[in-house]
Amino acid sequence: MVKITVIGTGYVGLVSGACLADFGNTVICVDSNSEKIKALRDGVIPIFEPGLDEVVSRNVREGRLSFSGSLAAPVKGSQAVFIAVGTPPREDGSADLSHVEQAAREIGGAVESYTVVVDKSTVPIGTARKVRNWIGEELARRGADIPFDVVSNPEFLREGSAVFDFTHPDRVVIGGESPRAREIMKEVYRSLYLNETPYIETGPETAEMIKYASNAFLAVKITFINEIANLCEKFAADVQDVANAMGRDGRIGAKFLHPGPGYGGSCFPKDTRALAKAGRDGRSPLTLVEAAIAANERQKELMVEKIESGLGASLKGKTIAVLGLAFKSNTDDMRESPAIAICRGLVEKGACLRISDPAAMKEASWRFDSIKDSIYRAGDEYDAVKGAHTLAILTPWNQYRNLDLERIKELLLPPEKPGALPCFFDLRNIYRRKEVEEAGFEYFGIGK
Ligand SMILES: NC(=O)c1ccc[n+]([C@@H]2O[C@H](COP(=O)([O-])OP(=O)(O)OC[C@H]3O[C@@H](n4cnc5c(N)ncnc54)[C@H](O)[C@@H]3O)[C@@H](O)[C@H]2O)c1
Repeated sequence: MVKITVIGTGYVGLVSGACLADFGNTVICVDSNSEKIKALRDGVIPIFEPGLDEVVSRNVREGRLSFSGSLAAPVKGSQAVFIAVGTPPREDGSADLSHVEQAAREIGGAVESYTVVVDKSTVPIGTARKVRNWIGEELARRGADIPFDVVSNPEFLREGSAVFDFTHPDRVVIGGESPRAREIMKEVYRSLYLNETPYIETGPETAEMIKYASNAFLAVKITFINEIANLCEKFAADVQDVANAMGRDGRIGAKFLHPGPGYGGSCFPKDTRALAKAGRDGRSPLTLVEAAIAANERQKELMVEKIESGLGASLKGKTIAVLGLAFKSNTDDMRESPAIAICRGLVEKGACLRISDPAAMKEASWRFDSIKDSIYRAGDEYDAVKGAHTLAILTPWNQYRNLDLERIKELLLPPEKPGALPCFFDLRNIYRRKEVEEAGFEYFGIGK
């Protein structure tokens, strides 16, 4: 059992803290956002993440998990301090390390005995060394000679299945050479280590690179199948059959071969841009990653063009029901969700939107502030399609996979052209063309 402080209680910090407590460690989760801490102390989980509330409440009840608004006291009593704060993108694509620096300096101002400082945030290659320097500077300022180590421990969880991913990882990566730190990290992850989860020990730079390379590879893979899907449309080929057959090749693998409106979320867009920037700065350009970033931006524009050309008319005065705003299902996270660019693009072309999402409506309210006059916030998917000319599915929520197509058809406006069918834009390929056409719609998927 290790005494742990986790700094930052966002998607990664809260899941990590709760699951590390579930592994038997004693964890204090700290956040500078006092509202979050108050909510957590009141038993309210500030994010939508399936299964997280159970793990949090169980570990709070059993005394292994608690929350604090300031980090000094928790850090003093901890053997390991995880930094899980945000690393948002700067204008030039590089990662903004100001939260990491602040956390590191505060740690340096508080530690009293040997501590392992763990970089859990996704950070540029070389950051572990910077964290070491920032802590060292604060110790020097205090005139304190306290030993500490910094290790990189990148996180690979996916929002929407974060608890499962954290507790069943494909691998645990620990970047740091100190034997003392490595021993403590093994103890932190004891339950996984004993379960024979692949446990990879490297230097800190290698660990940092593993995280960026993994995310960039997946972003390139998604972009590749999106471009193949676009090409399939030109040749009447079916990308789902293509992806299925490709995915059966063990060298390729079936995952991340689902075409869609472009990747989004809090990780792929910012991490690809940060890696590309590192490539440019290091004069070792990542041309594939650069191309994927550009193609992903284009993919979102293509979705707007698809809707416009599918309707066969200008979008001016058209009302479009948008089903799904989160960047993926099972999360309320809209960071860089393709829905943001697509909704803005539709409104720029003169459309009005009726938006709906089972979890992200709160986030949508401030994200769409600049286009709020063109948006109606619907109560659910059926309210969204009421009086709309068409619908577009942007997030593959389960509840959108089995819509009552008869009811949708009745709720939509009848097509203006005599004999035309209402258009159904399935931008996540969650329907079969045949079933939608049989229900009396003109179907538009991606790459089929
Ligand atoms: N979200 C994911 O799916 C995911 C997956 C893997 C890795 N990551 C990486 O993990 C890191 C965190 O991501 P996230 O999505 O959890 O971010 P987030 O924005 O949801 O959470 C960050 C939290 O840190 C807090 N914070 C910031 N500075 C602080 C400070 N000095 N002291 C205390 N608290 C502070 C913020 O208030 C916020 O609650 C990022 O580097 C991200 O790239 C994210």
